[in-house]
Amino acid sequence: MAVEQRPEIEALLAEERRFPPDPTFAAQANARADLYEEAERDFEGFWARLARERLDWSKPFETTLEWDLPFAKWFVGGQLNVAYNCVDRHVERGLGDKVAYHWIGEPGDTRTLTYADLKREVSKAANALLELGVRTGDRVAIYMPMIPELPIAMLACARLGAPHTVVFGGFSSEALAGRIDDAQAKVLITADGGWRRGKPVNLKGAADVALQSSSSIENVLVVRRVAEAGEPVEMRPGRDVWWHEIVDRQSEECPPVPVDSEHLLYLLYTSGTTAKPKGIVHTSAGYLLGTSYTHWAIFDVKPDDVYWCAADIGWVTGHSYIVYGPLANATTGILYEGAPDTPAWDRWWQIVEDYKVTILYTAPTAIRAFMKQGSDFPARHDLSSIRMLGSVGEPINPEAWLWYHEHIGGGRAPIADTWWQTETGMILITPLPGITTTKPGSATFPFPGVDADVVDGEGRSVPPGGGGYLVLKRPWPAMLRGIYGDPERYRQTYWSRFEGVYFAGDGAKRDQEGYFWLLGRVDDVMNVAGHRISTIEVESALVDHPAVAEAAVVGKNDPVTGQAIFAFVILRTHAEPSDALIRELREHVAKVIGPIARPKYLLLTPDLPKTRSGKIMRRLLRDVAEGRPLGDTTTLADAGVVELIRSSTGREEE
Ligand code: WTA
Repeated sequence: MAVEQRPEIEALLAEERRFPPDPTFAAQANARADLYEEAERDFEGFWARLARERLDWSKPFETTLEWDLPFAKWFVGGQLNVAYNCVDRHVERGLGDKVAYHWIGEPGDTRTLTYADLKREVSKAANALLELGVRTGDRVAIYMPMIPELPIAMLACARLGAPHTVVFGGFSSEALAGRIDDAQAKVLITADGGWRRGKPVNLKGAADVALQSSSSIENVLVVRRVAEAGEPVEMRPGRDVWWHEIVDRQSEECPPVPVDSEHLLYLLYTSGTTAKPKGIVHTSAGYLLGTSYTHWAIFDVKPDDVYWCAADIGWVTGHSYIVYGPLANATTGILYEGAPDTPAWDRWWQIVEDYKVTILYTAPTAIRAFMKQGSDFPARHDLSSIRMLGSVGEPINPEAWLWYHEHIGGGRAPIADTWWQTETGMILITPLPGITTTKPGSATFPFPGVDADVVDGEGRSVPPGGGGYLVLKRPWPAMLRGIYGDPERYRQTYWSRFEGVYFAGDGAKRDQEGYFWLLGRVDDVMNVAGHRISTIEVESALVDHPAVAEAAVVGKNDPVTGQAIFAFVILRTHAEPSDALIRELREHVAKVIGPIARPKYLLLTPDLPKTRSGKIMRRLLRDVAEGRPLGDTTTLADAGVVELIRSSTGREEE
């Protein structure tokens, strides 16, 4: 494991521009500078105060934190209901008419849901789940496009204390089946499809295939989204139920079930360094506090803001910062179903103008894709409503930061570059708008109460100016509570690399002023367009194909997606190399994992560089992929191999 110094990263570290907070913004900011001191003095007391002030409890907690390393329990003894905190309490306080979501379908249809609407819809959906036999503790799988029924389904589960596991709609049947099985989900909620680039995506068909190989699902609840367009949908009698047929006739009353603070709220599967995705465990009270408080402080959310986190709810960003955090803060949000380029590359800017969006949160990949299309697209629209911007998912290069600042933020809006992970649940390293002087490309400082450090290979703190591994030294309320069903893997993955601290898997550097600069993953995890994909997952998908003997996968730098997947493949002797086969192999990966994992480059090669002990030397493959001179080859068993690979033909790229 080594922190590789990529050329863009060096450019990033040479960045010297700084953006001090604007005094007018600072004067009205939610966050205050003294939060850092308060939290530092007594981080448990800090979170306990916030938990009492910001959440509504059915039963108050007794103990703030039980820390039996690496297992944390927050707000022990307390009980609450997450859906009540996200919906009902706002209605009870007179905010029933406030818009919770402005939803925009890709074809142009729209729907507005107030908090009162949300309460009614969530209650009806929860009653439908009860009718299907779902009880507190039962797992529900959700595989849906970005339509209002997706957050409604999640909140319906939370209302009953039935943990959900949302599977991103772009994942394959096989990926869905694996997650359903691991979670032993009882009900699957899906849709007949969703709209993407003008075409319906057939989710129900994919779900049906998944259900052929998974046994725990008793019922499938299907939202009708594309059927009107004449898409055929097969419903299996006794198992499949249309959402509108069962949900619409339910009572609008469904009492929220109070659950313990540590009750499982959801599982979200993410890639690690093995082929099997990990079910990340998030529980109720600490998660809700961590996401809602960071959302309020970092995005400076005010009652009249129109907030748009443009992620997909299928990823953690959507869970924490489209659904739970914002709703707990009674925020008005935007939900957009489709692609940013449909019908044209100004779709987002049209939405910002139409809805007067004030806060926008997106990923560097999206920003770079917009940059590539040129600043004319945003320039055609009135973006003057925007007062705050956020970035997440990958390191943001200063060039993209500055473009975002100028062309989307009008040179005024502060940018929060927010570092966090599926595992951390909430943002942990970020500027606070109105307080922090930002530097383009730096996520700046740990959030109040968070203790982050950069350490060397032996776990020693690296002095300012140095690089190493990012670690977290004390628990935080939204942290993962484990890997579902596998406490040993949890300990191994996150808590064994360095004694007593959480190892994030990211390289980082701190400059002389203590600013954190994130340098990307240091393990075998790629970050493609902000999506985490493990090299080993793609390799096992490739060797699953009958023509493949062996495969090695690396991330290659990409100007838009950050990294792109580069696969080196050795064919079995009976297989004939051909362009058609290469295409088939790329498609095969898309089928096994999902289109996001389709290798952009695939090279057929007679051999792979290995150490004498047989370990594939990915470092050399990365050199080949980047077309740069080879690093140290002394441990290579057969030095001729790399030259052989370089001269290989049979290469395909998109
Ligand atoms: C990367 C997404 C640099 C990092 C919320 C992390 C970032 C992984 C940033 C988690 C950032 C996320 N700067 N890198 N601001 N935000 N990352 O689980 O490598 O999908 O470990 O969670 O994304 O990805 P995940």
